Amino acid sequence: MNVTVDVFAGRTALVTGAGRGIGRQVALGLAQAGADLILLARSADQLEDTRAALAESGAGCGRVMVIKADLGDEGQRAQAVAAALARGRVEILVNNAATVEPLGATAEIPVSDLRRAFELNVIAPIALAAATLPGMIEAGWGRIVNVSSGIVAHPEAMTRGNAYAATKAALEAHTLNLAAELHGTGVTANVYRPGRVDTAMQTWIRGQDPERIGAALHERFTRSAAAGELITAEHSAASLLARLGGAQNGVVWDVDDLSPDSMAG
Ligand SMILES: NC(=O)c1ccc[n+]([C@@H]2O[C@H](COP(=O)([O-])OP(=O)(O)OC[C@H]3O[C@@H](n4cnc5c(N)ncnc54)[C@H](OP(=O)(O)O)[C@@H]3O)[C@@H](O)[C@H]2O)c1
Repeated sequence: MNVTVDVFAGRTALVTGAGRGIGRQVALGLAQAGADLILLARSADQLEDTRAALAESGAGCGRVMVIKADLGDEGQRAQAVAAALARGRVEILVNNAATVEPLGATAEIPVSDLRRAFELNVIAPIALAAATLPGMIEAGWGRIVNVSSGIVAHPEAMTRGNAYAATKAALEAHTLNLAAELHGTGVTANVYRPGRVDTAMQTWIRGQDPERIGAALHERFTRSAAAGELITAEHSAASLLARLGGAQNGVVWDVDDLSPDSMAG
């Protein structure tokens, strides 16, 4: 991964969903750039694998903290935030953890499942931003990135993924509104659309019963994997990290758009 060494030296980064996929690769890139890391997810074994990958990569010499928590649970989230902030200020927040569930016909989705999706995909990133922002503002520097999805630009392309489309659209609206509020503080908030990435999330969708999630949705994901259209998590993470040190605020970053115009602060 090609990230400027030490650009984040002395900064602490909290990466949610850091146990695998895009989050793990973002954590590796941040460590390479000198950041101290706080890795958060539910699966302790996967977080430990990321910690081991960080050690093996020899990336940076920063400290690594692991927090096992379900961000969809308000109590666990509050405890996780307290543990993270007890260690000191968090200046980089990558809200990457999310769920694609519930999938299926909208009329058949229980409201309780919808609530869980909004809690994890929308409320948790806002709550983490709210908790870490005072420290960032005090420092006069901070970076918040909310990992969204291309579905926001084309909600119709993922029929029967209504909760996912709605939560990611809400996350983007929150991010751009927050960015306007942060103007002039040295703290930025941006959206990242990571592309179609070969991760457990994609594998999970392909493994679902087409009758439950809808044949068209199932076929769309199966076809793009078979056609070799998925990019690696490392590729996607590198694109996010290429923008993170800059001063852009309130921008929707797309994985493939690394043109000079899109990178301009
Ligand atoms: N892969 C794609 O093609 C794609 C496309 C567009 C957008 N995205 C977005 O990219 C981000 C990362 O996705 P990915 O593909 O890397 O998925 P992934 O491989 O499934 O990783 C998701 C991570 O989030 C964690 N997570 C899930 N639920 C959690 C919870 N309740 N509390 C805390 N952590 C939780 C997972 O760990 P545990 O399960 O152990 O908690 C895991 O570490 C997501 O925001 C996703 O919506 C992905």
